[in-house]
Amino acid sequence: MSKGKLQKFAEMETFSNVFQYPYSVISQVPFEMKGHWREQYFHNDNPIILELGCGKGEYTVGLAKAYPNINFIGVDIKGARIYTGAKQALEEKLPNVAFLRTSIEVIDRFFFENEVQEIWLTFSDPQMKNVHKRLTSTFFLNRYRKFLVNNGIVHLKTDSNFLFTYTTLMVEKNNLPVLYRTEDLYGNELSVDGGKQETMVDEETREILGIHTYYENQWIERGLNIKYMKFNLPATGTLVEPDVEIELDDYRSYRRTKRSGLSTSK
Ligand SMILES: C[S@@+](CC[C@H](N)C(=O)[O-])C[C@H]1O[C@@H](n2cnc3c(N)ncnc32)[C@H](O)[C@@H]1O
Repeated sequence: MSKGKLQKFAEMETFSNVFQYPYSVISQVPFEMKGHWREQYFHNDNPIILELGCGKGEYTVGLAKAYPNINFIGVDIKGARIYTGAKQALEEKLPNVAFLRTSIEVIDRFFFENEVQEIWLTFSDPQMKNVHKRLTSTFFLNRYRKFLVNNGIVHLKTDSNFLFTYTTLMVEKNNLPVLYRTEDLYGNELSVDGGKQETMVDEETREILGIHTYYENQWIERGLNIKYMKFNLPATGTLVEPDVEIELDDYRSYRRTKRSGLSTSK
């Protein structure tokens, strides 16, 4: 591990807004704050919104600044990435931000029934080879339902046509209500109702969607369309996987090369 990373990890141990519970820890000890984030950490009754796979936490921090009356928690397994957002939140004295370092596979060990209002998935790995690793698969949606309020909102912002198509099919197959959907966020107006009806989004939504993440900027530089949708996730009813073949993203191999080139700056 590089010296820079080691220094970040050591510094992050002192951060009051970071909770580090990788599987090796959470499999041994329960998370005492489950069900108590509001009173024990945020000290208010405000809603909680998660960013899963937050990386450097651009949405967690950006939304927290825009909405001081909402609490935001960024979740990622990579400490060196979380460090960036956590440090910024501390420096800017944002009381409504926390970061959780863990695997999203065990996310339900950290939040109690109805403790979370919304979930953001920002540029999640499409996991084209393994359906159960996709953050919008039935495997994960069922986990989210354990702590999300009934009809809580799931936001997906992605470059990946594969993940976007998969999620669209998931939503259609399970009749999940779509609130907004666009395949070209910065090129066209957002549409509602699965793209059947065009509508202008309000200024507030436009500003939120104008927050760009680290990965998003890489994709925009490459000229890829950014896609966005948000849908309600009802608490009950059996969720089933869409049974279709989806064309793979052909640029992903390029990305792997690019990714290794980027690793030093993270
Ligand atoms: C492609 S990056 C996107 C990061 C950030 N949202 C952005 O847009 O810049 C995906 C992130 O999800 C995290 N991640 C992927 N699968 C995960 C899992 N199962 N548990 C925790 N974090 C995960 C990775 O560590 C990585 O930081």
